[in-house]
Amino acid sequence: MLTSTVRVTGSGAAGGPQRILLLGGGSEIGLAIVAALGRGPETEIVLAGRDPAALVVAGAALPYQVQTGRYDALEFADHQGFVDKVFAGGPVDLVISAAGVLIGQPELDHDPARAADLIGTNFTGHVTTLLACAGRLRERGHGTIVVLSSIAAVRPRKANLVYGASKTALDAFARGLTDALHGSGVRVLLVRPGFVTGRMTAGMSPAPLATTPAAVGLAVAAALRRGDRGPVWVPRSLALLASALRLVPRPLWRQLRR
Ligand SMILES: NC(=O)c1ccc[n+]([C@@H]2O[C@H](COP(=O)([O-])OP(=O)(O)OC[C@H]3O[C@@H](n4cnc5c(N)ncnc54)[C@H](OP(=O)(O)O)[C@@H]3O)[C@@H](O)[C@H]2O)c1
Repeated sequence: MLTSTVRVTGSGAAGGPQRILLLGGGSEIGLAIVAALGRGPETEIVLAGRDPAALVVAGAALPYQVQTGRYDALEFADHQGFVDKVFAGGPVDLVISAAGVLIGQPELDHDPARAADLIGTNFTGHVTTLLACAGRLRERGHGTIVVLSSIAAVRPRKANLVYGASKTALDAFARGLTDALHGSGVRVLLVRPGFVTGRMTAGMSPAPLATTPAAVGLAVAAALRRGDRGPVWVPRSLALLASALRLVPRPLWRQLRR
């Protein structure tokens, strides 16, 4: 199930991530995070996604030992087995949960069944996969889970309400998981980027304080090195904006066009 371009056995020692699992292995943000980690070439990474051939191409740009595995965030019943197989290949120290889709609200209004795919990909699949990962990491008493929430989690906008709801749910899950794992040696790093210019937002005009995958990667890598517990806002000034957004009176809020 897992294929490797080069295969080594990582020690998974507490000194740093020796073996990384990137769920949504083609994610621009996920790949930018792992590239920014600056780990040694002995580091092993499993890129997990729907198109292993594309993952091999993405992995070729990484300075690590790359494995790929077929993973579909919507195949919930397979997630425990997938995680078991990954961990059977060696201890994992860092899990990055980066699968996600952004589907425009007009499309969802027209075809509500697609909203189930969005919620499944952005929320349910993270829950079923990360509960399995948390169990494995807890057994070793060591490891970090990075969860990519969003500024969209702060307050639902009518122009983006299902995506926002999926991120609010994911954000709440990550905070609950943080508490559930407290004292276990496993930490959760919650990341809340703003608008990130890239494939997911292609064709959209950038929102205020827009950032890039590379900037998110650097911010997350720095937070991991420092042992921060988050949330990591990217850019940092977004935390202030989020506080202000919570205070906007509802009659005004509902006038927002995007
Ligand atoms: N871009 C932004 O503005 C922004 C802002 C805040 C938070 N985020 C979040 O950050 C995360 C990464 O986003 P990104 O900007 O890196 O977007 P991206 O480059 O489009 O990456 C999303 C990844 O999710 C994968 N994916 C989608 N559906 C999947 C499924 N059913 N099973 C497995 N993988 C699936 C995609 O795989 P395929 O290649 O197979 O489609 C792709 O690799 C997402 O959770 C997103 O919501 C993004």
